Amino acid sequence: MNILLTGATGQLGQCLMARANRLGHKVTALSRSDCDLSQPSMLADIFSRVKPDLVINAAAYTAVDKAETEAEIAFAVNAEAVFQLAMLCQKYECPLIHVSTDYVFDGLATSPYQPDDKTGPTSVYGTSKLAGEQAVCRHTSAYLIIRTSWVFSEYGQNFVKTMHRLMTSRDQLSVVSDQLGRPTYAGDLADFILHAVARIEAGSCPWGTYHFSNATTLSWYQFALMIKDALVKAGCSIDTSVSPITTADYPTPARRPAFSVLDCQSTEQAFDYPMPLLAPALATVCKLLNDY
Ligand SMILES: NC(=O)c1ccc[n+]([C@@H]2O[C@H](COP(=O)([O-])OP(=O)(O)OC[C@H]3O[C@@H](n4cnc5c(N)ncnc54)[C@H](OP(=O)(O)O)[C@@H]3O)[C@@H](O)[C@H]2O)c1
Repeated sequence: MNILLTGATGQLGQCLMARANRLGHKVTALSRSDCDLSQPSMLADIFSRVKPDLVINAAAYTAVDKAETEAEIAFAVNAEAVFQLAMLCQKYECPLIHVSTDYVFDGLATSPYQPDDKTGPTSVYGTSKLAGEQAVCRHTSAYLIIRTSWVFSEYGQNFVKTMHRLMTSRDQLSVVSDQLGRPTYAGDLADFILHAVARIEAGSCPWGTYHFSNATTLSWYQFALMIKDALVKAGCSIDTSVSPITTADYPTPARRPAFSVLDCQSTEQAFDYPMPLLAPALATVCKLLNDY
């Protein structure tokens, strides 16, 4: 397939590019220097040149705290650029796979969020991502919105890499224990997206909004302990003690959802695709981090 991929330098973008190339897709991968999505007027030229069979939007303004003071840029990238992508996809009759976030929910639920549960973002980032989702739903007919959460990988900035850096340089760490969620390895998400691409090619894609994450629910504190264990197994010399703290002990500019657990059952059923286990993905990333 002739795929136009945005966000090529991001965690998900890099995982997607490697895998899509291996599967023989032709990928036009856009980085910020190819097209700055805060000024998305270039997209029309790119579409007329590339004539994609499919667009995967892995780009996003993801600086959750900074977005509180840079709302204009967050909305330009996460909402306006997505609107432009959706309009162009409709014009070129090209399906759109758009990646979104657990932050579209308010985090006050007590059971995992279903894709059609009421949204209610509490941050600028979450609100801008929800506006992007709405643009996709309103302006395209052949779309997949895939919400994910707590993304980590060997690339970019993420919690696992932060824990690796801190655990190899500090004796003691405190990590928030009253926020629950489901980590997602960007490589597993990329594999799933390419499974969905195969369904699109086969003409059997169940269009709509879905959730995807690895199959474990835990707190950031529990995740930190799991990372420590995986790093030690990967050969890192770590003797850091990790203690639990509350969200109130670690204030951030953007409010974090206390309960950010995505229910992925409809994804498993519609795509016949079980959510991958967290431990093997974490072991892979920790091994790579130790080998660097
Ligand atoms: N990271 C998470 O924990 C998380 C959680 C839930 C959902 N998600 C969603 O998952 C998707 C992938 O996230 P990720 O973790 O791969 O994000 P990431 O590593 O931060 O990558 C974001 C990508 O977007 C690009 N980008 C940002 N602003 C841009 C602009 N103005 N013009 C062009 N490109 C721009 C970045 O380019 P540069 O490299 O030049 O900055 C980068 O390639 C996003 O939709 C995100 O909202 C992420």
